[in-house]
Parts: sequence; C-alpha cells; structure tokens
Amino acid sequence: MRSKKIFLASPHMMGKELDYVKEAFETNWVAPLGPFVNKLEDLFKEYMGVDGACALASGTAALHLAMKLAGVKKGDYVFCSDLTFSASCNPIIYEGATPVFIDSEPGSYNMSPVALEKAFLKYTPKAVVIVSLYGMPATMDKLVEICKKHNVPVIEDSAESLGSTYKGQKLGTFGEYNVISFNGNKIITTSGGGMLLTKRAEDAKKALFWATQSREPERHYEHKEIGYNYRLSNVCAAIGCGQFEHLDELIKIKQDIFNRYVEGFKDIPEIEMLKEDNDRVSTHWLSIMRLNNSKVKPLEIIEELEKNNIESRPIWKPMHMQPIFKEYPFFNHNESGLSVGEELFQNGLCLPSDTNMTKEEQEEVIGVIKSLF
Ligand SMILES: Cc1ncc(COP(=O)(O)O)c(C=O)c1O
Repeated sequence: MRSKKIFLASPHMMGKELDYVKEAFETNWVAPLGPFVNKLEDLFKEYMGVDGACALASGTAALHLAMKLAGVKKGDYVFCSDLTFSASCNPIIYEGATPVFIDSEPGSYNMSPVALEKAFLKYTPKAVVIVSLYGMPATMDKLVEICKKHNVPVIEDSAESLGSTYKGQKLGTFGEYNVISFNGNKIITTSGGGMLLTKRAEDAKKALFWATQSREPERHYEHKEIGYNYRLSNVCAAIGCGQFEHLDELIKIKQDIFNRYVEGFKDIPEIEMLKEDNDRVSTHWLSIMRLNNSKVKPLEIIEELEKNNIESRPIWKPMHMQPIFKEYPFFNHNESGLSVGEELFQNGLCLPSDTNMTKEEQEEVIGVIKSLF
C-alpha cells in the first residue's frame, strides 16, 4: 500500500495565503470582520457581476439566510434538488418549512425541469433551491424560466460549482440568492466559510444584519429580530483572498484531472464519465464516474482504492431516501420505478480529484480501477 494518501479533494495553498494571514495578525484584525472580509466580498461582486455579497462562516449559513431573504416561514413549502448534500435542505427545516424534493434529469444529474413542472402542479412553494453538483451546471435557463412563470424566487446552491458556467453565464448569478462554499474540500477554501451573493445590494445588507446578531444601530444593544453569529473571520477571509488569485489555475487543474480520467478509461465500455454538453462548462470539482451494465460495482472500486490508500466516495444519497427526510413529498423525473437520482446513487462514484495529486498518482488511481475490469 502507498504510504502517502491520495485524497478526494484537499486544500491546496497556492501563493500568498500565509502572507495575508500574517497581515491579519500583524494588524490585529483577528475578528469576524476586517479588511480581508471586505476584500473577499468585493472580489466576488466583481467576479460575479452582482451588487450584493456577504461573506459568512459557511455555505450552510448562506443557505439559511437565503431562506430568510426569500421570506420562508413555518408552513411554507420549499422545492429542493433531491440529489444533493443535506446542507441544501436543512435550512428549510430550520425555518419550520416543508421541503419538497425534485428528482434529477439524466445527463447533468441536476434538477429535472420535468419533475419541477410536476411539483408545481401540486404545490406552490415560497422558493426553489437549485443545486449544481460536482461542478456540473444544472439546466439553469429552463429551471429559472419555470420558477419565473410561477413567480417564485430561485436560491442557487452553487456550493460545489464556483467557476462553472451555463450558456456562458457564471453559476452563482442565476438565482435571486446564490450560495458558494469555501469548505476545506472546495475548489477554493477559507478552511471553512461561504458567500451569499444577491442581485440587490440591500439583500446582502440585510443578511449581514442577521449574521451579526441583528443588532440595531443604537449605542446600546437593541434587538428587534432574532440574530445569528454567522460572519466569516478576517483570518479565514485572508486565506480566501490568497486562494481567489489562483481560482482559474485550480479550475484548469481540475479539468485536466477529468480529461485524464476520460482518456484513461476510454477502452472500458462500462465506464462513463459525467461529461458536460455544449451549454455547460464544468470545473469538474469532482470527477464523476457512472457504471453502465457493469459487473463491477461502485463499492468494489471504493474498497479496492481504499486498500491502496486512495480516497473516493459514493454519490450523494438522494434526500427522499434519507431517514430524516423520507416523509416529505418527492417528484420523480420518470413515470415510475427508480428515479434518476437513485440510479446514479447505485451506479455512480466520485473519483479522487485532488489538485495536489500528481499525474503519476492519478495514473496509479486509473491503474487500480482498470485492474478490476
Ligand atoms: C451542495 C452543497 N450545498 C451546501 C453545502 C454546504 O456548504 P458548507 O460546508 O460551507 O456549509 C455543501 C458542502 O459543503 C454542498 O456540497
């Protein structure tokens, strides 16, 4: 077994991160506010071309505040992608609302416009959470159009998809409220953190107010609303500012990793790599493999890689299959039988996509997998 572990996706410090952290210390801005927090927000406003940005302690916090901005309250319904990480829908429950899960479409494996239309026939939601998984853009134009038709705001969960585009438009700009994660495994990290991006500057301002304990502008501590301690630390934002300078480089490394997998598995008909079509540019934050009529199952691959000290991971387990969420409504893309998300959960796999991985290490990963076929 190799002694150095190959990770799925680990932090990759690229340049000035430590210099900026030192600067935060030297200027004693070791607080949940400061110049690097402001700078990171400005960088994102410029990059995304939006008016509002609020740097927060996590992507989950950003989703929670997006929920509040959308006015989600007890008794409301909120539609949400079914195939995702639980952080996409937990904030629906925080606000006492009911999630309604929408299946994926074949192809992008993100929210199915067909299933979304079915759900609108039965429910009127307060908001729709559209997730773009693994760097792969959802079919944003169709999904946004359906939501517009029903006059329902979109919350874009692009936690995993910073840098991807759909028909030339950056993910994180399609929704009324948009979420990016800087968790340690994401394409750029602040160790932990997130960003809420809004079309209107006043929405980001309101989010900042809630994120800093809803303190009214008085000399004493005056509170008219429930608040949260959700602000990003200036030390973490310093890491983020250093990482942001290398975003394009990191995207390129992720895409090269994906292309090497495509090349490596091209002679194995049972292996299908999750590719984008002409409308989508994916960062391939994680390279996704799907097994087609294969005797080899994803778990065997995971276990074989594990024996070789290589990390891989199953696809997200759909939310409607989770014990905690199984009572909530779910809309299948298909007429009957297995949903698209369930099928991918059974046959898909997240391959090591660590930007720290060398080409030789990746060849080893490919070799271990190929040995099973
Ligand atoms: C799809 C998705 N949504 C939301 C989140 C939550 O982000 P965070 O971990 O920064 O809270 C994550 C990942 O971590 C995610 O993968």
